[in-house]
Amino acid sequence: MPNIILIGYMGSGKTSISKKLGEILDREVIELDNIISNKAGISINEIFNKYGEDYFRDMETQVLKESLNKNNTIISTGGGIIVKEENIELLKDSGIVIYLMISPEEVIIRTRKDNTRPLLKDKNIGKIENMIKNREEKYEKASDFKIDTNNKNIDKIIEEILLVIK
Ligand code: S3P
Repeated sequence: MPNIILIGYMGSGKTSISKKLGEILDREVIELDNIISNKAGISINEIFNKYGEDYFRDMETQVLKESLNKNNTIISTGGGIIVKEENIELLKDSGIVIYLMISPEEVIIRTRKDNTRPLLKDKNIGKIENMIKNREEKYEKASDFKIDTNNKNIDKIIEEILLVIK
């Protein structure tokens, strides 16, 4: 069975949705950020602070490649997985790629209590809007399906995912 890969901006629900989807479909769930953090032995925040974003992005590509060697998994990616063109190409022939779409307003709401994301430190709506605008085309290019997650709970989003992967 092909891998199911979730992509989308921070706060779009990739982590929680992949966990639940893994339970429903009885598949292994791979969370790229967790693997990166475990490999480095420090948090994503610390990787950014200590080594910078480029270093993180290189690790991200390496871990993506390793994960795509597997089959029958659910892969939850980091929001910036599409920043590197190389990753988009990797994703395009890797399985079923689902783009979880989220509005900037909803990002603010869903990440209000979170301070673990280096690129969401100041929760500035204008900055988030720009980032999503810059990434939108890349998310679309890398994905097979797009699901609007705004104003939907996890169960509803999962219901839509199960429909598209049928
Ligand atoms: C990032 C998203 C994060 C994490 C890193 C960079 C991004 O993952 O990979 O902080 O560039 O959007 P989540 O989307 O799981 O928060």
